[in-house]
Amino acid sequence: MTKTCTIPLGDRAPSPKQTEFMRAGTKYVAFGGARGGGKSWAVRAKAKLLAAYYPGIKIMIVRRTYPELRANHINQLRAETGDMAEYREQTKELTFINGSVILFRYAANEKDLDKYQGTECDVLFIDEATQFTEEQYDKFKACVRGVNGFPKRIYLTCNPGGIGHAWVKRLFVDRIYKDAENPADYAFIKSKVTDNPALMDTNPDYIRQLEALPPKLRKAWLDGDWDIFEGQFFEDFVDRPEQYQSRQWTHVIEPFEVPEGWTLYRSFDWGYARPFSCGWWAIDFDGVAYRILELYGGRDDSPNEGLKWTADRVFAEIHRIETEHRWLKGRRIHGVADPAIWNAEYGESIAETAARHQVFFDKGDHERLPGWMQVHYRLAFDEAGFPMMYIFKNCKAFIRTMPLLQYDEHKPEDLDTDGEDHVADEVRYFCMARPIKPRMTPPPDTYRHSPMFVNLDIPKEDIIAKPRRKRVEVITHGKE
Ligand SMILES: Nc1ncnc2c1ncn2[C@@H]1O[C@H](COP(=O)(O)OP(=O)(O)O)[C@@H](O)[C@H]1O
Ligand SMILES: [Mg+2]
Repeated sequence: MTKTCTIPLGDRAPSPKQTEFMRAGTKYVAFGGARGGGKSWAVRAKAKLLAAYYPGIKIMIVRRTYPELRANHINQLRAETGDMAEYREQTKELTFINGSVILFRYAANEKDLDKYQGTECDVLFIDEATQFTEEQYDKFKACVRGVNGFPKRIYLTCNPGGIGHAWVKRLFVDRIYKDAENPADYAFIKSKVTDNPALMDTNPDYIRQLEALPPKLRKAWLDGDWDIFEGQFFEDFVDRPEQYQSRQWTHVIEPFEVPEGWTLYRSFDWGYARPFSCGWWAIDFDGVAYRILELYGGRDDSPNEGLKWTADRVFAEIHRIETEHRWLKGRRIHGVADPAIWNAEYGESIAETAARHQVFFDKGDHERLPGWMQVHYRLAFDEAGFPMMYIFKNCKAFIRTMPLLQYDEHKPEDLDTDGEDHVADEVRYFCMARPIKPRMTPPPDTYRHSPMFVNLDIPKEDIIAKPRRKRVEVITHGKE
């Protein structure tokens, strides 16, 4: 006789959207569509309920990488099922006392996927399905088969963006179907962070972080808009000459003398047939970064074409600038560059050539999406219009190329690398060398909601704000 499983759902009821997901009965169900909507929680809840309710059922939970799988599913499900199930690390399977099994699978690459070819299951959950290509999805889908009487179901969770953006959007958002696909088999349950009371209660900052994103990303991740990853990539970059002196609501500013004691950086992206790009940065005592100088190896008469300087020539020039320019000479400069320049396949690496010219670099972090997020965080203005990154107006390559960059058609949150992206890449390495937290939008006005308001009876307008700290003065000497 099979034993009966009783499994607690947790100390909190599912949200209305999660309930809808629990009850969904179509063959394919997508859940989510924005960040923080309680998707992984709902996957765990539904998987353990199915396992308990249908003795002997086989369920597979998929996530792209093993660490993500462990952090989002394995650890929690082990804890939540207690004596009702036993986990085996070797096979990554959680076996319930009633004979049901949850298989945990990941596919960071094609090789991983091939391992699962013979696997069969009744119910498949793909968490963060937009991180998989359609081919990978098809391979997992093929595992859902078998002649037992259990319902065959495929559940996906998703956010706009990621490599699988297009196929998930087609099936569940645009609902455009091919011959073999039956529209009635597909349902999409949209859940946003605002539909997840658990997260809103425990981490109210999370929604403010999403609100601080540039408009397109905010629309995608906060509102679950699938149509936005097109057009200009750095729509948050602002160049307003009338604000160069005030430094508010603009990134480009008048140059000033770089004070002693500010930390200096040099960021570098190598190029020969394509332009190379070198940027110098100064960091003030508040952590604000200023792009003070740049050397760009692109031809004036032909965009995105390199000067074809040898590495020796490039680094001799960089060394000359660093020993002659008054903002740089005699000062320690932290170098950061594309890790690819350490590649020594063809003899001396670019990094070694640089070192011969006393130009030293640390390996930059080239994770692209976190890097772009850092650039966005730095470009974000605070409530007074001050960003965390400024560009001296003499940095012409930055000012010209950054607004040209477009979203990639195939990798939604990334930029199109066919564009002139050499400055952007080097800016990204720099930003990843000094990552910052996203700055948040100002908190709601609690004054008027405070019971003290009634007793004090002072109109808010009569309370004078603390004077703002004086910003560094601009010294232009009447020239650039
Ligand atoms: N019904 C619920 N009860 C308790 N906690 C929940 C519930 N739904 C979501 N959470 C919690 O909210 C947070 C975000 O949920 P999660 O499922 O990880 O979101 P997503 O996968 O959509 O990003 C997690 O800490 C999760 O445990
Ligand atoms: Mg999740």
